[in-house]
Amino acid sequence: MGKLKKIAKKLPVLPFVYRALRNEYGRYQMRSNNTEKVFTWIYRSDAWGGKYSRSGPGSTVDQTRVITKELSSLINDFNISNMLDIPCGDFYWMKNVNLGNVDYTGADIVKKLIQECTKRYGSDGIRFRHMNLTQDQLPQVDLVFCRDCLVHFSFADIFLALANVCNSQSKYILTTTFTGRKVNDDIATGKWRVLNLEIAPFFLPEPLKLIVERCTEGDGIFEDKGLGFWRISDIRKSLAERNVAGLIGSERPLSAKADDRVREFRQFAI
Ligand SMILES: C[S@@+](CC[C@H](N)C(=O)[O-])C[C@H]1O[C@@H](n2cnc3c(N)ncnc32)[C@H](O)[C@@H]1O
Repeated sequence: MGKLKKIAKKLPVLPFVYRALRNEYGRYQMRSNNTEKVFTWIYRSDAWGGKYSRSGPGSTVDQTRVITKELSSLINDFNISNMLDIPCGDFYWMKNVNLGNVDYTGADIVKKLIQECTKRYGSDGIRFRHMNLTQDQLPQVDLVFCRDCLVHFSFADIFLALANVCNSQSKYILTTTFTGRKVNDDIATGKWRVLNLEIAPFFLPEPLKLIVERCTEGDGIFEDKGLGFWRISDIRKSLAERNVAGLIGSERPLSAKADDRVREFRQFAI
């Protein structure tokens, strides 16, 4: 893809052909249902077009100004001593957060991101791991931080991710939710839409705390974008009540059974 991009830039019509081919390749990856390939393609082609961060326009210093400060306060207020940031993306804005003495693990499904982050930011208390949120066994931590991720997942993958977080026996989760929305749409994993975790089909309880990001993207149409802070045991209880308890089991990791379980969930959802 890199060579094709260089040739395309030299000839006037080729950029259009290049973009069409690139987009078609992306659609092909999404149909493949292989999450790692989908997000690796997004990363390689810079499909989110982030000027500063490969994680897209929501991860600039401006868009993360509020949470950079609030995350640090929350770490203090709730005595967080270790956290899993999944997905960590390129760690672009997280490098500005005062993590204090928190033992930090950043994880992402794109291997190249993990290699780059390890090289640039890895240290004693900061490490990066290649992990799939929906399938891999997650470490038990005080805080699972999951920003701008579930908004890219199908309903089935969101349930798998939440169940996997519950299985980790971690304490709290801080994750993206748009509290003003009345309806959630299902999508293919890799696309994007707004998501309210308190309404159907998730029905999570009211979060213990909500950090409103003060998002200014789209001329303010995403002003309800926030990070909900839940006790994971409350999420486990809520999922169990809604009959998705089959996803929360003693077997770990989920990887071997994940595809079957997605299929089972789809049947259940219909
Ligand atoms: C929009 S970025 C957000 C990154 C970061 N949380 C931030 O706020 O800047 C979404 C990230 O999710 C990662 N991702 C997607 N699916 C994943 C999965 N199943 N497990 C782990 N990471 C995933 C992508 O590779 C990408 O880096």
